[in-house]
Amino acid sequence: MNILVTGGAGFIGANFLNLLVPRHPEHRFINVDALTYAANPASLDPIADRPNYAFARVDITDADAVQALFAEHEPDCVVHFAAESHVDRSILGPRQFVRTNIEGTFNLLEAARTRWAPGDGLFHHVSTDEVYGSLGPTGLFTEDTRYDPSSPYSASKAASDHLVRAYHRTFRLPVKITNCSNNYGPLQFPEKLIPLMILNCLERKPLPIYGEGTNVRDWLYVTDHCEAIWAVVERGAVGRTYNIGGHNEVRNIDVVDRLCETVAELTGQDVDGLLALKTYVKDRPGHDHRYAIDASRIGEELGWTPKETFETGLRKTVQWYLDHSEWVDKVRSGEYRNWLDANYGDRG
Ligand code: NAD
Ligand code: DAU
Repeated sequence: MNILVTGGAGFIGANFLNLLVPRHPEHRFINVDALTYAANPASLDPIADRPNYAFARVDITDADAVQALFAEHEPDCVVHFAAESHVDRSILGPRQFVRTNIEGTFNLLEAARTRWAPGDGLFHHVSTDEVYGSLGPTGLFTEDTRYDPSSPYSASKAASDHLVRAYHRTFRLPVKITNCSNNYGPLQFPEKLIPLMILNCLERKPLPIYGEGTNVRDWLYVTDHCEAIWAVVERGAVGRTYNIGGHNEVRNIDVVDRLCETVAELTGQDVDGLLALKTYVKDRPGHDHRYAIDASRIGEELGWTPKETFETGLRKTVQWYLDHSEWVDKVRSGEYRNWLDANYGDRG
């Protein structure tokens, strides 16, 4: 198969390609990425020279470029990761989220619809549990939970999910959708909670916790997510949605405490000194309280379960950031420093 992977220079896309390109020499993987601030080509060093891997710098908001990409590479399958992915950025500047997440997805769907014969091809859309909104203290998101997005990011992802389903119902485009909970692990841009806290611990900077830190996320190690996506690509039913999650609900404040303990253990720093860096700052507007996934469908139908526990995953993640200071230096551009000032500057 020719597999077009969008957003493969970002966090999850790069982990996906690093895992699957060596494992599947019979498939050709074409990584399509605009290389925004969130991308790091160095993340793909392990596979850059593989014969079944190619890179194309294309912005998916450019409809003509997307059509040309399909003409050149003749994909049989699209695995669509490319997106603006950070909730706080969508609050400070929503326009690019509408462009990339909605229009970009539309351009890919149009290319697939017009170039694939009816019933041919597979469009796998990678989405998020944030489309379901926020849970109270109990309950889980299932594939039938009503969409109720809170942020411009999650609203744009919800719109893209609807477009993908509409193309299936109206044009019979073969699609699959996965909605996953919070990922963590190597190669994650340090605007997200876990890598931000690790790097701030290493530099002894404040650890900014939004509100009271009681919001709950369901954390999943990134390669577990990648394996789940591949299981759905290979064996999932066409037209079906699969929720993916870690059965691993943790309050933000407890995530930060565990990170402080893990960093202290792996670096020999004093844990109390790290815990003292915790700083409560102004809350995120529209902050969803709790996410938790019922992943029984993918477990029962495809036999997928996560391999990492939060403890083993966090240790691997902290160790990865300790071992990859060069990668970290590459992503901490002037843009990153400007982002920290814009997002945290007036939170107090
Ligand atoms: P990321 O921000 O790390 O990477 C996004 C990638 O998309 C980058 O390489 C970027 O250059 C590329 N991109 C952005 N705009 C583009 C455009 N217009 N054209 C082409 N490429 C473009 O994101 P991530 O965390 O790896 O998330 C990947 C996907 O998974 C997203 O669709 C996201 O909604 C979804 N998701 C993420 C999580 C999570 O916890 N990170 C959880 C569930 C679902
Ligand atoms: O649930 C899946 C989603 O998880 C993905 O769709 C998104 O792409 C991904 O960014 C992530 O969204 P979150 O908003 O949950 O992740 P983030 O790392 O930004 O925040 C996690 C929690 O930590 C959230 O409750 C906000 C809080 N937080 C975050 C930051 C950056 C803080 O308390 N302080 C911070 O500095």
